[in-house]
This record gives sequence, structure tokens and C-alpha cells, in this order.
Amino acid sequence: MIKTISTTPYTDQKMGTGGLRKKTKVMMQPNYFENFIQTIFNTIGGVKGKTYVVGGDGRYFNDIAIQKFIKMAAANGVAKLIIGQNGYMSTPAGSNVLLKNKTNGAFIFSASHNPGGIDNDFGVKYSDETGGQVPTSITDAIYKNSQSISEYQILDVPDVDISKIGTQQLEGMTIEVIDPIKDYVEMLEGIFDFEALKKLFKSGFTMKFDAMNAVTGPYGKRIFEEILGAAPGSVINATPKPDFGGLHPDPNMVYAKELIGIMYGDNAPDFGCANDGDGDRNMILGKKFFVSPSDSLSILTDNYKLIPAYKNGIYGVAKSAATSTAVCRTAKALGMDCYEVPTGWKYFVNLMDSKRITFCGEESFGTGSSHIREKDGIWAILFWLSIIAATGKSVEEITKEHWKKYGRSYYIRFDFEGIDKAVADKLMADLETKLPSLNGKKFGEYEVSEAAPFIYNDPVDGSSTKNGLVVKFADGSRIVYRLSGTGTSGATLRVYMEKFEQNHLDEEPLNMLKDIAKIAAEIAEIRPRTGKQQPDVIT
Ligand code: G1P
Ligand code: ZN
Repeated sequence: MIKTISTTPYTDQKMGTGGLRKKTKVMMQPNYFENFIQTIFNTIGGVKGKTYVVGGDGRYFNDIAIQKFIKMAAANGVAKLIIGQNGYMSTPAGSNVLLKNKTNGAFIFSASHNPGGIDNDFGVKYSDETGGQVPTSITDAIYKNSQSISEYQILDVPDVDISKIGTQQLEGMTIEVIDPIKDYVEMLEGIFDFEALKKLFKSGFTMKFDAMNAVTGPYGKRIFEEILGAAPGSVINATPKPDFGGLHPDPNMVYAKELIGIMYGDNAPDFGCANDGDGDRNMILGKKFFVSPSDSLSILTDNYKLIPAYKNGIYGVAKSAATSTAVCRTAKALGMDCYEVPTGWKYFVNLMDSKRITFCGEESFGTGSSHIREKDGIWAILFWLSIIAATGKSVEEITKEHWKKYGRSYYIRFDFEGIDKAVADKLMADLETKLPSLNGKKFGEYEVSEAAPFIYNDPVDGSSTKNGLVVKFADGSRIVYRLSGTGTSGATLRVYMEKFEQNHLDEEPLNMLKDIAKIAAEIAEIRPRTGKQQPDVIT
């Protein structure tokens, strides 16, 4: 029954910031997906006798990919697969199942917050036994081996029924189909005070959770409506769809349009929140009020004592270099270490495993803690609800009091999308060459205090990573430039900007950062090089 199929390599199977992401049609090319999976199997020394968690965010091609994966795993001697019912599993739930069952790894089929459907994107996230996505040394090895793959193994059998919970055998491999929500809920119940949250909703507290027609709809229904008692209908866009109903499942002010309409409308509920395609990102809103992800991380850190699982103390915190410095000010005040890492969740994993950090986050709407090794959208929401339940304050009050206490990092990100890759690479290379000459230079009232590439030396494994270019100013303002590692067409230049204020706390970020934005465009020659007058997306 095991067939060995001859194949020829594809040359573009390089994993980026969030696994391998490609246009769905690219993934659907003959043997493309199979080549990639077999290459991973080969690179990690085979999978004979190993156990893996498998699931996905339900996007187009998820069902077909999972069947291919099951047949390849059995043919390669995998001992057991733990699969989410109907192939669904959010990224954080997958990390939890992996850690709980001490499996050898997990495969989550998702392009995260990228749109789904035959004309959009598909992806593969591969995690090892740490529960987190594998380090660059492994992704580099996978890429190298993908260039020379010549065959793969697959079973020649009909599709496996994964619609019913239970255990079955396939040619010597055990397949356990699980409820993808149950373990996840249990894990969260061990962190937060669910009774306090039930009381909050009993008291008439209202919320809307936008699942964006993606994987967390059923998680949200179960947790917020069924268990905690939020009113029916609190979860919107709750049914996962293969094309996310045409939504771009990225929880931000631009793409979570329906939720924004509700939260900025007349009868806004007390609390608004959203997750991305695979459930690891989150957005937090109050009535007519947006919490920037960088502030959110800082606020959660400042309130760790309110949460049962953290009340006896936490290790340090970490943020990506592109994230605002807010959390580091809070950490300093609390006497904790604050680490700065390259963009991508995998850099937090070593810090968690070595007990250096408990909380971490990225400006790109990712927040999490060491309860798993991925960011966790619903965890962040429950944390915010817990702060509200404990303090009786609104999202806006909590945030503004935080600014009063520590000052405010005004923060904004510009994305210049669809740039020719050669143009983008040259822009970054030339900018890097130019950085030393910027030191001490004055742009109006802003004086450059340091301009250098961001280099991270991992304190645990000793690896060194360069990610992005940083220009710091004497007043604490910063500009970070980097190219996206998750796009599937052309290049995206991201420009992250921050300005620290202790007194003017209630201004518009865009307005506060307009001079910095001008300087950022000037330094990198964005207009002349890309032809773009304006960013395509502002978050
Ligand atoms: C983006 C985000 C980054 C995040 C990644 C995966 O990567 O910027 O923070 O870790 O998605 O969710 P980028 O496209 O910038 O490489
Ligand atoms: Zn995601």
C-alpha cells in the first residue's frame, strides 16, 4: 500500500516569519505540498515512531492537505497523529495539545492572517517538541534539502474520516481525532478566574468578539457565550469558512470593519475584540477606543498580579524590536528584565524555556505568555476581561491610567506593499550602508543618537540574527525598517515609528508622528525608490 513517488524539487520552499506561506495555487501544484512535508520529515531524521498534532484554520485546501498529510505520515512510519475534529485546530490550541501530550511536534495548516481561498494564500506551520515554530537553523536546513528531494512516500488508500471524535488505525498508525476546543478551555481555566468572569457578564457587561469567519468562531462561542455567559450573538462571523467569507482575517482597524463599525457606533458594547485566521493574534477595543498592541502588552504586564496563574510573580518580558518600548518601561518599574528580539514568535521560545520571560508580544497584534509557545488571541482577551472584572474600569480608563503612570509611546506602522523585490532589497542595503553617516545628524528638532542594524544574540543558543535597521533619536523616538517575511507576492517594506510623551497623552498618533514619518521617508528615500507617495496600510 505504501507508494514511493518520484518527484522533482521546487526551488522556493523557504519558510518565513510564520512558516511556509504561498499562493494556494502554488501549494496545489503537483507534489508541491508533498515535497515540502517529505523534506521536513527527511530533515529531522525521519518520523518513524513519532507523534504529531495536526490541524488547520479551515481555509481552502485545508481538507485536502490534511488527507495528504495523514497518508504521508503513515507511509513514513509515524506512530500517532492527534487531529482536530474535521481538521480544525487553532495555532494556540495546537501548541497546547502538543505540550500537554509531549508530542514530537505539530503541523498547523494556515497562512495565519493572510486571506484564504483558491486565489489567496495557504501555509504550513511546523513546530517541534518545544511547542514553538522551529529555529532558523532548522528552516535553513529544510530549505536546503528541498532543493534536492527526489521522492516521497504516501499510502494509496481512501480518505480517512476525521469527522468523528475517537481513535482509529491506519496501516499501523494510530489516529486520534479530538475535540480541538476542550483541552484549550481546560488550559485557560487553569490560568484565569472563570468565576470572576462569569460574574462580570452576569452584571450586564457586554462584548463583541469578531472571529472573522475563521477558526476561533467555535472557540469564542464555547468560551464567551456558553461558559462565561456573554449574551448570544456576542461572537460575530463565528462560522469558519474556506475563504473566510471574503474577509481578510487580520484583526486590525483596517480589516475588522464590522467590529470597528459596532465599537465606534452609537450602542457600542463595553468591550470589543477580534482574532486572526488561526487564532494567535488579537485586537482589543473599548467603546470608541483602540488599544495599540504595544500598549496592550505593557498593560497586561503591569497587571499580572490580578491573574491567578501569575499572581505569585512572573519572570521577565520580551518584545520584538519593532514593538514600542512601552513594555520595557513597565518592566523596569516592576524590576523585571525586558528582552528585545527579532520579529517572529520563535525568538521568544528559548527565553520562555530558560525561564527568562513569562509574557511577550509583538506590535503586529500578537500577545502571549509561556503557557504555550505561540501567541494566543483568546488568552489576551481573557486577560483584558480579567483586568476589567478586577478593577471595574473600562478599557479606556485602564489604558489612560497606564499612560499617566508611565508615559505614552505614540506608535504607528506604515506598510508599503507590492514593491519589486530587487528595489526593496536595494533600499534596505543602501540604507544600511548609510546608517553610520546618520549618527549625530539633526532633522529639525530630532537628533539621531544611534543608527544601526538590529542584531540579536540569543542568550540561550548563542545564535546571532540580524533583523531590520533602527534609527534612534535623542528624545527616545525611534524608526525601525524591515522587510516582511510573510508576504506571498512582491516585497513589503514595514516602517515602525515611535515617539515617547509624558505630558501630551491624548493626541492622535498620526499627528504626533508626522515629523518622524517625514524623516523616515526621507532617510530611506522611500518615494523616489518605490514611487509610493503614501503607505498602503497604516496600523
Ligand atoms: C508578520 C508580523 C510579525 C509576526 C508574523 C507572523 O511578519 O509582522 O510580527 O510574527 O507576521 O504572525 P512579517 O510579515 O512582518 O515578517
Ligand atoms: Zn495567526
